[in-house]
Amino acid sequence: MDFSHKSVLLDETIKGLNVRKGKIYLDGTLGGAGHSYEILKKLNGTGLLIGIDQDIEALEAAKKRLSEFKNVEFFNFNYMNFDKALEELGIDKIDGVLLDIGVSSYQFDNPERGFSYRFDAPLDMRMDKDLEISAKDIVNTYSEDEITRIIKDYGEEKWASRISKFIGQERKNKKIETTFELVEIIKNAIPINARRNGPHPAKRTFQALRIEVNKELDVLKKSIDKFVDRLKPGGRIAIITFHSLEDRIVKNSFKYLEKDCICPPSSPICTCDKKREIKIITRKPITASEEELKENNRAHSAKLRIAEKLEV
Ligand SMILES: C[S@@+](CC[C@H](N)C(=O)[O-])C[C@H]1O[C@@H](n2cnc3c(N)ncnc32)[C@H](O)[C@@H]1O
Ligand SMILES: [Zn+2]
Repeated sequence: MDFSHKSVLLDETIKGLNVRKGKIYLDGTLGGAGHSYEILKKLNGTGLLIGIDQDIEALEAAKKRLSEFKNVEFFNFNYMNFDKALEELGIDKIDGVLLDIGVSSYQFDNPERGFSYRFDAPLDMRMDKDLEISAKDIVNTYSEDEITRIIKDYGEEKWASRISKFIGQERKNKKIETTFELVEIIKNAIPINARRNGPHPAKRTFQALRIEVNKELDVLKKSIDKFVDRLKPGGRIAIITFHSLEDRIVKNSFKYLEKDCICPPSSPICTCDKKREIKIITRKPITASEEELKENNRAHSAKLRIAEKLEV
């Protein structure tokens, strides 16, 4: 099992989290544990790292990678349920949270998981194998309109409606079972001239299905406030995203949390109880340096935003 990929925006994230000895940090997307390894090095045997991954294989590999450290606790569930981990550990507030959203290169490079258009495998894409709906269920049971919306919104694919029409036609004959069957449908749907340049023609559709299967946007949207709520004053939240819709969620959630009033502009006095909860550290998202871009393809779309909890 190879988790040896480079963590994205590693230095920038660790610096942004402002890791201090004796404090408690939570990594909600442990993956290859590259970021967590650096956090634990900085903690130098003090404090605690709480590592969460909904993918049991990722979590097991992370346990091995971090086996030299004692001050780490592992949990196998969706990060949106992180309060269960805090409850189990008897912890009320934490000093930092990291989310590095999305798929890991291990998941992507592992043929059996069905995340990649490069390998023939059952169409799956569930990070947590207990999830009820897989990519296969979506392409075979969602309406064509729903499939169009997913591919268009989450994949930013301009051929979305043609692709879903072709899916609709194909599944009338036979259930769509594998990644390569879907790749073939996508290739037939996108005119050859449009396929000549740019990324693999199935890239956007596969990304879209993965986001839908794992409910990635909903989970992120619902979790940011909850994380900020459990941060100690001065504690930081750092979120790395790879998709414009995800980045927008982070940006807008931070903006809202930073507001000290949400009364309509027409209202003469403030009657809302809104309090400013955070200070935004990154007005513009941090992106990868030229140097990192040369080494790590995945870093191209990465955006890091950081905020700090205020005394409320
Ligand atoms: C991009 S990788 C993280 C890489 C890691 N930061 C590193 O440095 O190696 C994302 C990981 O987060 C996990 N993940 C994604 N969404 C999750 C969620 N909602 N809850 C828990 N784990 C999640 C995936 O299973 C994957 O292993
Ligand atoms: Zn107000």
